[in-house]
Amino acid sequence: MANGTTKDVTATLEEDYRTRTPRSQELFERARKTMPGGAKGAYFHQPYPLTMARGEGCYLYDVEGQRYVDFANHHTAQVLGHNHPAVIDAIQQQMVKGIALGAPVGIEAELCEEMCRRVASLDRLRFCNSGTEATLHAIRLARGVSGRAKIAKFEGGYHGSHDVVEISSAPSLDKVGSETAPNPVPSAGGMSPHAAEEVIVLPYNDEASVERLVTQHRDGLACIIFDTKAGIVPQRKEFVQFVGEIARKNDLLFILDEIVGFRVGTGGLQEYYGVTPDLTAYGKVVGGGFPVGAFGGRADIMDLLDGTRGSTGFFQSGTFSAHPITMAAGLATLKQLTPDAFAHLNGLGDRLTAGLNELFAGENIAAKAVNTGSVFSIHFTSEDLVNYRSLARTDKEMAHRVFLALLAEGYFLSHGLSMNAISLPTETSHVDGLIEAVGRAIKESQ
Ligand SMILES: Cc1ncc(COP(=O)(O)O)c(C=O)c1O
Repeated sequence: MANGTTKDVTATLEEDYRTRTPRSQELFERARKTMPGGAKGAYFHQPYPLTMARGEGCYLYDVEGQRYVDFANHHTAQVLGHNHPAVIDAIQQQMVKGIALGAPVGIEAELCEEMCRRVASLDRLRFCNSGTEATLHAIRLARGVSGRAKIAKFEGGYHGSHDVVEISSAPSLDKVGSETAPNPVPSAGGMSPHAAEEVIVLPYNDEASVERLVTQHRDGLACIIFDTKAGIVPQRKEFVQFVGEIARKNDLLFILDEIVGFRVGTGGLQEYYGVTPDLTAYGKVVGGGFPVGAFGGRADIMDLLDGTRGSTGFFQSGTFSAHPITMAAGLATLKQLTPDAFAHLNGLGDRLTAGLNELFAGENIAAKAVNTGSVFSIHFTSEDLVNYRSLARTDKEMAHRVFLALLAEGYFLSHGLSMNAISLPTETSHVDGLIEAVGRAIKESQ
């Protein structure tokens, strides 16, 4: 879609951005001398990312002192916003007792109990340091229990950065092959050449193809791992339930990725969709802003990690797994996530996407706003969003321009405008302000 005119608009928006943020540019140029890319990959956008000085409630302040309403909330993790007093207090209390003591401190069991109490399918749970580790260990358990090596995952499903799950996590459309039997495409260089052989790639939203592919490959498969793409692609509850049933019917473990979880209700995405996974992977919110992962589920599977009566042949550990500060922050965070808190967050998510979709319809803009609870995305497309391929065809250049125009308006979203999130201190006025700002940003970006 980018033509001479839209290229000029992008250049103007980027030039305005540079003028407003010289200190961020300076810091980026310094960082890139020793850090390839200047920042972690997910932070980068053209021409360079903002450097933030601090956060408070639902606001971020960049190094120039400019304020933004934060609608990204650290890849959805900061559900309470920034510096929530309950989290700060819990961290401080633990810090004075000791940061890392080389032994259990008790809070990890409290957080574990709290999660198992909230989520019906969780009999047992273990902590690790990232969502990546959580899906790695869940898949390892599934392979160990079944004695089979292959996994089934969805095209465009994201589960972190270990080899098998990076097959077809964001494949280029010229490599994907048939829509009903997608090719397994490695998403990063340096992966094991065998990774692609170990993955059966399933298309979202296509029951017939999922059933056919799973049935065809069932003898080699250990599990189906499912990222619902909550707040990114509209997901039919019946489809999520169908995937769970297909796993059960074919004697495969059903692993639900709830790493963008605890964002729609007390019992998580599985309660919302009405499914009972065998294992579930967690991250983000349950660390209260610190690095975290967790995986859990059926006692008979998870107890394979209980080596207290001798080796079971299974193992999971990690120097900083169940780190005391993370556990304290995570527990304090979950305690704030009451039914009232979810009602507030979900209400804002629904209000935002309803307002945006009304704006798009009224102004004849080819765009769609999607939310699952307080996670939301804005996609520039006239197509129905049914699977990875329709998501991949959305107008990313337009999203970039609107992102920059929104920064100028004082709103910070994820730079692709996908997988944004609302935090608890956010109010109706912020959401209504964003809707109006999106209207103006689109006008500026056309
Ligand atoms: C659905 C999903 N699964 C897994 C992950 C990986 O988690 P982490 O970045 O903590 O490794 C992410 C991260 O964004 C995610 O969104």
